[in-house]
Parts: sequence; C-alpha cells; structure tokens
Amino acid sequence: MMAMTVGEFGLSLKNAAAPVVGAAACEKSSIQSGPSKAPHSVHFGTRISPRVDLRSLNFFGRVLGLGVEAPSTSSNSFVVRASSASAEKAKARYPGEKKGFVEEMRFVAMKLHTKDQSKEGEKESDAQPIGQWEPTIEGYLKFLVDSKRVYDTMESIVQKASHPSYELFRNTGLERAEKLAKDLEWFAEQGHVIPEPGTDGTTYSKYLTELSETDVPSFICHFYNVYFAHSAGGKFIGKKVAEMILDGRELEFYKWDGELSQLLGAVKENLNKVAEEWTREEKNKCLKETENSFKYSGKILRLIATSK
Ligand code: HEM
Repeated sequence: MMAMTVGEFGLSLKNAAAPVVGAAACEKSSIQSGPSKAPHSVHFGTRISPRVDLRSLNFFGRVLGLGVEAPSTSSNSFVVRASSASAEKAKARYPGEKKGFVEEMRFVAMKLHTKDQSKEGEKESDAQPIGQWEPTIEGYLKFLVDSKRVYDTMESIVQKASHPSYELFRNTGLERAEKLAKDLEWFAEQGHVIPEPGTDGTTYSKYLTELSETDVPSFICHFYNVYFAHSAGGKFIGKKVAEMILDGRELEFYKWDGELSQLLGAVKENLNKVAEEWTREEKNKCLKETENSFKYSGKILRLIATSK
C-alpha cells in the first residue's frame, strides 16, 4: 500500500484540488530587507510569518535551503517574500504532484472514502457502513451485471479512441468485461437468472460515453478510479462477499493475467504521461470529477447489499 501523500507535505488539506503551498513551495523564497510589506507578493501566501527573526533564519534558513541573503549584522526586521525571479519557480504545489498526476488523483480519491472504508478516508460512514452489508446473490448479480455494463463501455471507448490519448489504454491487462462475462456464465450454469443491466449501470455508461467525447481529463478520472478502485477496495469486497455467499469461490472478476502491480504500474505511467500535456486547470477539472466517480460507482457497489 502506498504511503499517504499528505504526510509528504506535512499538511492536511480540506480541499485537495486547491493549491497548497507548504515548505516545499517556500524553498525558493528569498529574504529581502526593507520596510515591512504585506506578503501579497508571495505566491498564494506562505505559511511563513511575514516578519521573521533573521538571526534564526540566517542559520535555519540556510539549513532549510531558504537562500537567506540578509546582512548578518543588522537587527532590523525583515520581510520574507518570494522574489519575482523565484515566484515563478515557487508555483503552487498539489498533494502528490511531485510523484506524478496519478498520485494527485489517488490523494483526492482516498479522502473521498468513508472512514470505515479506508484509514485514509475522511468522510463519515454511510447510513449502512460496509461492515453491516448483508450481501445476497440477487444483489451481487445486479452489481456484476451493472459493473459489466461499465467495463464494456470503458473498454469500447478506449478501443474506439475518439481522442488519441485513449489509445494508450488499450489492452492494458486490466480489462474486466470478458472476465465478468465468464462469471455471469458460471452463475447461469448454477441456475441463477442473470438480470438485465439496471439504471445505475446504464446511467453511468451513458455518462461515460458522453464525457469521453467532450471532456478528456474528466473521462480519464473515471478511467483511473474504475480500474484502480477495483484492484484495491474492490478486490477486498469481492473476497468478503465470496466468503459470505459463494463458499469462498474466487470469481474471474478478481483475477488478472499477469502481475497486477506491474499492470497497474504500466497504466500509471501512461496516465502520468497523458496528464503531463494538460494545463493546471485541466488537471483540476480531472481531480474534481473524482466526486462523480465515487457517486456513480458507489451506487453500483451498493447493489451488492440489495435484494429487491
Ligand atoms: C465500500 C467501498 C470501498 C471500500 C471498502 C474501499 C476500500 C479501499 C481501500 C482499503 C483502499 C486502499 C488500498 C491500498 O492502498 O492498499 C482503496 C483504494 C482506492 N479506492 Fe477504494 N474503496 C471503496 C470504494 C471506492 C470507490 C467507490 C472508488 C471510486 C470509484 C474507490 C477508489 C479507490 C482508489 C482510486 C484507490 C487507490 C488505489 C491505488 O492506490 O492504486 N474506492 N479503496
């Protein structure tokens, strides 16, 4: 499991899609002598108090790489502000940014989990927390059928590739539609009636199709969340459900041909590559879409514990 990225910055953010300026962004700030000025010129405002004691900064500033250039003899107060030359460099930092855009997406996604879903989650538990789910075969089949609808859609979108960046996500080894088809076949052989796709699956599928044509960053957000969620929490849920209602049978849905971490790693690289071409606004749009991803996928997940 990856370390929580918030630790990397030693900050806790309420709005993950907002710029963060912490120690890292202040690294390039320089100390300027002169009258005390309000720190408007500091990029996005820093956490450093505008007035600092130079005696300590001259020492710790160097140690911390702050580039202190104030005269050591003076006892005046000085102002810390980003110089115009360094202001450009001291761009806003986003949690996970240093590691690549996937880490930014992960950071936002983890915060959207409820506290009972993941220890990185920040949302309060749902009315029916996962520990209280009572899965039924009927509900699980609805979940599998609607999931197949979503994976069918995702996989045909990248095959069709209405935007060239989608081509990178063909044949990743993460595809799930065929695996789900096999599982549903098995359930049918056991005498279960396979339902038609429900509203949750068809609504999400329609939304994805539209988004893929009109808004690449937002579509990529769903792509990341759908495949990576399934490889993480999804796998865990599958195991629990199998223990509870399938005599522990492991479905094809939870099996990958090849080493999963390698498959994920290769997709991660391509996601980072695609996002490198985006403006900060496009990246933020993508991050913001995570909420919708949770909304749509969350509805489908909850089918597991429904019976009607
Ligand atoms: C009952 C529902 C859920 C549970 C119990 C759950 C649980 C978890 C857990 C435990 C992890 C951490 C895995 C790790 O880092 O080792 C995780 C990661 C993740 N989850 Fe969920 N999750 C749930 C729903 C969702 C939903 C609805 C989405 C979005 C569609 C989602 C997206 C993600 C993503 C993107 C990751 C990061 C995967 C990675 O680091 O590769 N999860 N989830």
